[in-house]
Amino acid sequence: MDQLVIGQTLAFAGDPFVEGPGAARHSTRGAVLIRQGRIAEMGEADTLRAAHPQAAVTDMGSALLSAGFIDAHVHYPQTGIIASWGKRLIDWLNSYTFPEEMRFTDPAYAAEIAERYFDLALAHGTTSMCSYATIHPASVDAFFAAAQARGMRALAGKTCMDRNAPDGLRDTPQSAYDDSRALLERWHGVDRLSYVITPRFSPTSTPEQLMVLGQLWREHPDCLMQTHLSEQTDEIDWVKSLFPQARDYLDTYEAQGLLGEGAVYGHAIHLTARERDRLREAGASLVHCPTSNTFIGSGIFDMAGLVASGLRIGLATDTGGGSSFSMLRTMAAAYELAQLRGTALHPSQLWWLATVGSARALRIEDKVGNLAVGMEADLVALDLGSTPAIAQRSGRAGDLWEALFPTIMMGDDRAVAGVWIGGKRQL
Ligand code: GUN
Ligand code: ZN
Repeated sequence: MDQLVIGQTLAFAGDPFVEGPGAARHSTRGAVLIRQGRIAEMGEADTLRAAHPQAAVTDMGSALLSAGFIDAHVHYPQTGIIASWGKRLIDWLNSYTFPEEMRFTDPAYAAEIAERYFDLALAHGTTSMCSYATIHPASVDAFFAAAQARGMRALAGKTCMDRNAPDGLRDTPQSAYDDSRALLERWHGVDRLSYVITPRFSPTSTPEQLMVLGQLWREHPDCLMQTHLSEQTDEIDWVKSLFPQARDYLDTYEAQGLLGEGAVYGHAIHLTARERDRLREAGASLVHCPTSNTFIGSGIFDMAGLVASGLRIGLATDTGGGSSFSMLRTMAAAYELAQLRGTALHPSQLWWLATVGSARALRIEDKVGNLAVGMEADLVALDLGSTPAIAQRSGRAGDLWEALFPTIMMGDDRAVAGVWIGGKRQL
């Protein structure tokens, strides 16, 4: 049966970084007609109601209806250690992350955390994500099984590490290749799931491991490849000492065939001019993780400069290096970091990054990330007055952007009034 969801609708007909806020399409009383899991029509509520009298109507009142948020870089296994105090990247990995990831040797623990992670993501209005798992194949199975049960479009891969990680948390070039390939064959393209080839980062992979993963990627070029790039200056120095022949950090990937369209690099804060040029030429994607970058003290991403260079840029929580599951909080952090570089990102740009931008970075923008006819019906409804502090500010707004910005800056899961996955209401 057709469903009609009514509210204030927000969609994008273009890119607000190019066209400004006029790229957005807003209706104060709009509607989305959902048929067989997809958006069949968009329009004014009254018009669609009259045209589809048999449709089941869900009226969300003045709530804002948008495409669900897309978290383009997350570590679901780090759910349990989010907000762990006092460390910088390498120390944080050794103190908190690796001991926690070791626990995923137990498939029951992996399944428990995957369930917890998806419940939290949906509660925050995140309907798709691209996650790292751990080195354990069962951690990938747990993630995809939980996503599949919820009908979600989700991406993930086995995190590969064959050095500089503790005993019990290392694979080998051969096992990384074999396990990644088996998981890819098991999950890639099943329902709404996609496998992502996932070397953690150069410090924890030997050149041999990077090389075999480059080979796997050449054999499966329709998969994405995700990793970390130039997050902290100490990390970059370490990469230099581990790869003395490399021209720069990106070159450690490039030399092994891990640069190209479909490469998705998290962080990418401290880039050289050569790295920027090569990333652009190769058509790679970058993912900005602002709450993580402040939380672990990594640095300030050059949003304005990198957008201007034409790179595909997504937005992400980087849970649990990031300090929040909320893409609203993540947009706020992106706003604040851009301000420190002298750019005030417009609310339309922030919203676009958390939806269309992340979808483009993950090359799924033809399926999710926007409200448009033919797109999969992954929706979020947001209460723009979810707390007294937000309501008193949005109550005096003169336009949509003024009404939305307090929720971007101060909102959290309390703002999420409804979530639909493939047209099925989840909350
Ligand atoms: N670099 C390598 N691994 C990680 C990780 O788990 N989190 C973050 N933030 N950076 C990393
Ligand atoms: Zn990460």
